[in-house]
Amino acid sequence: MRSTQSLSATTVLFTLGSTLIGTVSAQTFQRLGTCPTLGCVFPPDQTHFLAGQLFDVRLEVHAPVNGSEASNKGVPDEKFTFCIAHERGPCVDAAKFWEVKEAPIEKWSFSYFEDLYAKDAKQSTVVNVAAKAYRALSLKKPGDYTAKLKYNNGATTVARWVVRKPNTRRKAKNVLFFIGDGMTQPMITAARLIAHKSINGVYQSLMQLDQMDNLGHQMTHSIDSFITDSANSATALYTGKKSSVNALNVWADSSKNSHDDPKVETIAELFRRRIGGALGIVSTAVIADATPAALCAHTRDRGQAQTVVTEYLHSAEFVNSTYKWPTGCKQPDVIFGGGAENFIAGKGSPNGTDYYKEFQKAGYKVVHTKKDLLAAGKKDKTLGIFSVSNMAKWIDRNILPENLKGQKNSPTGDGTDAIDQPGLKDMTLKALEILTARSKKNEGWFLMSEAASIDKMMHVLDYDRALGELLELDDTVRASIAWLKKTGQYDDTLIVVTADHGHGFDVFGGADTKYLAEQTSDRAKRGAVGVYQNSGLSGYTVAEGSSPTNQTIVYGAQGPNFPVQWNPRYAYAAGMGASPDRREQFDLELGGPRLPAINDPTSGNIVNPKDNPNGFSVSGTLPIDEGQGVHSLQDVSVFANGPGSEAFRGVYNSIDIFFKIADALALGRT
Ligand SMILES: *[C@@H]1O[C@H](CO)[C@@H](O)[C@H](O)[C@H]1NC(C)=O
Ligand SMILES: *[C@@H]1O[C@H](CO)[C@@H](O)[C@H](O)[C@H]1NC(C)=O
Ligand SMILES: *[C@@H]1O[C@H](CO)[C@@H](O)[C@H](O)[C@H]1NC(C)=O
Ligand SMILES: *[C@@H]1O[C@H](CO)[C@@H](O)[C@H](O)[C@H]1NC(C)=O
Ligand SMILES: [Zn+2]
Repeated sequence: MRSTQSLSATTVLFTLGSTLIGTVSAQTFQRLGTCPTLGCVFPPDQTHFLAGQLFDVRLEVHAPVNGSEASNKGVPDEKFTFCIAHERGPCVDAAKFWEVKEAPIEKWSFSYFEDLYAKDAKQSTVVNVAAKAYRALSLKKPGDYTAKLKYNNGATTVARWVVRKPNTRRKAKNVLFFIGDGMTQPMITAARLIAHKSINGVYQSLMQLDQMDNLGHQMTHSIDSFITDSANSATALYTGKKSSVNALNVWADSSKNSHDDPKVETIAELFRRRIGGALGIVSTAVIADATPAALCAHTRDRGQAQTVVTEYLHSAEFVNSTYKWPTGCKQPDVIFGGGAENFIAGKGSPNGTDYYKEFQKAGYKVVHTKKDLLAAGKKDKTLGIFSVSNMAKWIDRNILPENLKGQKNSPTGDGTDAIDQPGLKDMTLKALEILTARSKKNEGWFLMSEAASIDKMMHVLDYDRALGELLELDDTVRASIAWLKKTGQYDDTLIVVTADHGHGFDVFGGADTKYLAEQTSDRAKRGAVGVYQNSGLSGYTVAEGSSPTNQTIVYGAQGPNFPVQWNPRYAYAAGMGASPDRREQFDLELGGPRLPAINDPTSGNIVNPKDNPNGFSVSGTLPIDEGQGVHSLQDVSVFANGPGSEAFRGVYNSIDIFFKIADALALGRT
């Protein structure tokens, strides 16, 4: 039996005699997340909607051929029925309820492993499926709905849906939504420690995040696993719907096709369709990466960069016109980030065509350097792609610029180096300028700006670079607030800063990096770590060579609100809750982002012998096929200023962020 959910006798027939049965109670290997019974309803039970938000309905009836749930001789019931009741009203057949054509039956099969033993034995369970889909529907009346799938002569799967009562008075004209990918409170605390000076325990300056008006925290878990990825969590933030790892704005169905999964409309699509305001997307990652992609794209597989780029320019319906989807991002006014490989002709662009040209044909100005970005006017829709792959990190751009050389990552694809890349602040401020100029009188604008490489650098355990990205985000929030005040828009703009998930990072002491490097055994090196009273004071806020009588602080590129010294002798000692085998020496990686582990063809991931050769070894806790750190469970902070921001106080679920923003914009108003 699966989980603690009791399955009715009509839905489960046990095939005894199999070596597999009896132990499949854990949730790790699911037949299909969100569908513990043999009848599946998407949107699943407990889904909350904004009034009028578009979504698809997918129904599936499963008939496992073998394994612990084998039933109906593997023949799925095709005569299933599906009805919806509003409040205490009658349960009305779906086609009638929505006044749409009856959907045709679709059929497919899939297989999965019931647990690790089955996987080791390569014994997969085969499931035959009968399904239907209804596309682009909505529920307009607030209240409770009961959706019932009846199948297998009397088995019923019930999904309870709620249409939340929408706010009808618009509070905010604009929304500035910052996401620090993977950013947690321990990282913010560590960033404050290295960038802000304290005297006898009193900070002389603070992070911008420390000074926001409202603070809450949100739960990031996914619909069918308690750890999320960025696609899944961005789906929750932007649609108010929990989903599965790797899914962008769809509920994962069991078919192979990653475009036919039931879709849901995002905050960006709603903002375009219902208000027609200006839309901007900024990220330091590949622009087709999950967090930016989730504003516009719909696919079960976040890896489909071409689908994502196509949906920025066109729509989900353009990707496959079989699936009606009369909404979309309708060509965002601003798209800034990395990922030139998805635009350059003949690389990973859609159809292999020059996608910069496709954007130009649609009226976009295209820029590739910081210089051109800063010089760009504010009238045109603008696409800024500044590097192949993810953009350079703040530390490399500002402290170790030599690391930008030899990358051959020019966004034009000519094989030169992308030396002149903007940072998050440059991109965000230019985006604000363009969106302000392009937004018509009362429509306002919506900008999502992502500090993506907090996460990317935490994955490779490069704590310094991750904190550099976090400080750049903080600096960007600070500069954006100042710019909004200067242009008289601050009182009309809801600003939200949050993360999409955590990483198990924290600081546990100080480290004398000089002493550590000079010891010869692992155990002696660990003596360089100072805990509690031996953790000492931050060496990052004091310039090298300064003394009580020489308080000269060298800012330069490292500026106020950043460390004045990135590689002090007395560093912070930090670690991850989960990592591959690694070595630690707690100093700045001078040659560019860290690579803690390498994949050995026979043993899996092992310590990279070139990483931290003077450090001590730390045993990993992850499966050996993981060469990087992974996401963690913790709730993440939410900071908010401006109209509608009081709603962000307290503790809530990630999906509530969508509803809070939608309410500030009155997007559910009909
Ligand atoms: C189910 O059937 C498939 C196909 O015949 C087979 O490969 C698989 O091992 C079977 N699984 C179990 C659990 O018996
Ligand atoms: C579009 O969807 C239909 C129906 O699932 C499928 O048969 C077809 O191959 C898809 N087309 C493309 C271009 O993916
Ligand atoms: C790819 O090319 C075909 C044929 O020119 C065209 O119909 C289709 O729209 C193109 N797809 C994209 C994503 O541009
Ligand atoms: C004071 O410290 C600064 C920054 O490290 C250094 O450049 C300067 O030479 C020092 N001055 C003296 C007199 O030591
Ligand atoms: Zn990540």
